Amino acid sequence: MEIRRIGIIMNGVTGRMGTNQHLERSITAIIRQGGIKIDNDLILMPDPILTGRNEHKLKTLAERYGPAATGQPYKYTTDLQGALDGKFGDYEIFFDASGTLQRGRFVEMATQAGKAIYCEKPTATNSAEAVRLAGLVRQAGLKNGVVQDKLWLPGLRKVRMLQELGFFGKILSVRGDFGYWVFTGLDLDQPPQRPSWNYRAEDGGGLMIDMFCHWRYVLDHTFGPVRKLVAYGSTDIPQRRDESGRVYPATADDSAYAIFLLEDNTVCQFNSSWCTRVRRDDLLTIQIDGSKGSAVAGLRDVYVQSAAATPKPVWNPDVAQPIDFYEGWTRVPDNIEYENAFKLQWEEFIKHVALDTPWKFDLMEGAKGVQLAELGMRSWHEQAWVEVPELS
Ligand SMILES: NC(=O)c1ccc[n+]([C@@H]2O[C@H](COP(=O)([O-])OP(=O)(O)OC[C@H]3O[C@@H](n4cnc5c(N)ncnc54)[C@H](O)[C@@H]3O)[C@@H](O)[C@H]2O)c1
Repeated sequence: MEIRRIGIIMNGVTGRMGTNQHLERSITAIIRQGGIKIDNDLILMPDPILTGRNEHKLKTLAERYGPAATGQPYKYTTDLQGALDGKFGDYEIFFDASGTLQRGRFVEMATQAGKAIYCEKPTATNSAEAVRLAGLVRQAGLKNGVVQDKLWLPGLRKVRMLQELGFFGKILSVRGDFGYWVFTGLDLDQPPQRPSWNYRAEDGGGLMIDMFCHWRYVLDHTFGPVRKLVAYGSTDIPQRRDESGRVYPATADDSAYAIFLLEDNTVCQFNSSWCTRVRRDDLLTIQIDGSKGSAVAGLRDVYVQSAAATPKPVWNPDVAQPIDFYEGWTRVPDNIEYENAFKLQWEEFIKHVALDTPWKFDLMEGAKGVQLAELGMRSWHEQAWVEVPELS
């Protein structure tokens, strides 16, 4: 049995996504499960080195997660160039979860060093830059990928299963409802639960640039290519309080409303908001209405109603509603164990790098998400439908 080491430079892992989703729930979880078992002869074993600017934070993370995985703290350094140059050992993958505005420089450095590159979305805040980065790594012949985690969510996997089973008949429309209340920090004992840069356009924040990247790959890879959209954004809350207690002006959109038309004219409507209070099954719900059945997918659970089980409501506001609409839906069972979505995508990327297995989610796919966000903002400002041209 060969245990093949896969060296991974993990940059910007001191952040929210880097620590929770990538270091703890992906790479550490993979090491703790004994690596990625390919067959009886081969296991791929990640070996991370943590990089960033703050030595103390890196040391704390290395000591918190390393021992339970490998028996010792993970390696770490503030010398990213040194890590890329091989000063601390051989690392073949560079991963970046730093801020969106930092991404370009880090992708350039990793390209120069000839690493396989994997990074968080969005890859940039405008499509020209996102396409430039995709071209750069492609020209250098490097394997590359962008996080498109929602595709591995149990909810969306169950939707794809239903599609394969022919459950929906013809899909007529898709309706996504995303969001929750993100505290402003202005009220006593109600701290914000997301980083403040998310609400400042000048720092790469904004709801469209954050979420339309997700909607693009979810739609393209589940329901069909997006061809047209109309969108509207709003800064509902003009002031918030940041991590250091300072009140700052919110300059980015914190709610966005869009209709996306697919190639086959399926209408997909998405509401996205950080200024909404949840009264639905989950923080993201996607309702798919088809001629033969409908489904409502949350992050994990999916409920279905077939044509034969559809109740027949009659509009009469003068009497209490006699139908309990929730009762007519059936929960899709968990017939497999669904693992963390980020971890599953990491495993596929590592296999792609080590064994050349097929991989679709490269930086050009990531650029398509940035493009959709940019076009959303154009539609909003011009108050017009816009076409989605092919990217190359
Ligand atoms: N896939 C998803 O669902 C998802 C969700 C949220 C955020 N994101 C993306 O992940 C990225 C990080 O977001 P976050 O919410 O973790 O933000 P965050 O502010 O918590 O983390 C960013 C991290 O980058 C570090 N950083 C900034 N500049 C750096 C530099 N020059 N060198 C090294 N490190 C640097 C910061 O210190 C911080 O630790 C963003 O691009 C964001 O859009 C993706």
